[in-house]
Amino acid sequence: MPQIFEGKVVAQQVEQEIQTTLADLDLQPGLAVVWVGDNPASEIYIRYKQKACERLGFHSEVLQLPTLTSQSELLAAIESLNQNPGIHGILVQMPLPDQLDSEAVIAAIDPSKDVDGFHPMNVGYLNSGHPRMVPCTPLGIMYMLAHYQIPIAGQRAVVIGRSNIVGKPMAQLLLQADATVSILHSRTPDLAVYTREADIIVVAVGRAETLTAEMTKPGAVVIDVGMNRLEGRKVVGDVDFATVAEKAAWITPVPGGVGPMTIAMLLKNTLQATINQSKNKA
Ligand code: GUN
Repeated sequence: MPQIFEGKVVAQQVEQEIQTTLADLDLQPGLAVVWVGDNPASEIYIRYKQKACERLGFHSEVLQLPTLTSQSELLAAIESLNQNPGIHGILVQMPLPDQLDSEAVIAAIDPSKDVDGFHPMNVGYLNSGHPRMVPCTPLGIMYMLAHYQIPIAGQRAVVIGRSNIVGKPMAQLLLQADATVSILHSRTPDLAVYTREADIIVVAVGRAETLTAEMTKPGAVVIDVGMNRLEGRKVVGDVDFATVAEKAAWITPVPGGVGPMTIAMLLKNTLQATINQSKNKA
């Protein structure tokens, strides 16, 4: 059996470090989550984020707007949060309903409050090798790899999925850690050609059983970002855990792997944004 990345345990350590840092500061971080519509998957993620804020004594508010909210109404709500000194982090839960232009919405967030790291300015800083706010899921994965002292430099890494939220920033971070990185996606003819050669595989496509044992090199490090709810309510990742676990050296469980690390990095980014903003005011 492989070694298991205990994301839940590492995330708890991160939360303790945040509490220690906060104890020495006279600051209360504030996070605003903007949620348009009533997507049930979003509801679960938002609840996790709120609970985490409660545990650490962060101020948190959820601004829930109706599904039919217009672009100008949403932009006005974001501008008001940009101006609010009690809010240090703003997260617009994705996906947004179809009538909304998510690119313009993200660009309207004050980059210093962009705790998701989605603003084009933060994307640019990351891609030029000078990261400021970094997207939480890839950041959490890098944190976990470092925690377990997984070598990255010189390794062959494969990222399956090219989203702005996970795939692209993940590939950037692995590249900056000196891996040789391939990004695979829905138009890649044969994923296995790449995955069979990969020392590190990150799967972020949102489809169960995307990575199987036949596709996995013995001794690989496997990171599963997926959260797929199967009929009968069971949540599974994008990796066929039972069979891949027989070949991998390291693997993340779902749940309890990447998910808790994402939340921990959101808290860390919010704390960092709070500290940065307090320095700029002084
Ligand atoms: N939807 C799925 N993951 C995320 C995330 O990390 N941030 C936001 N804002 N929306 C998401």
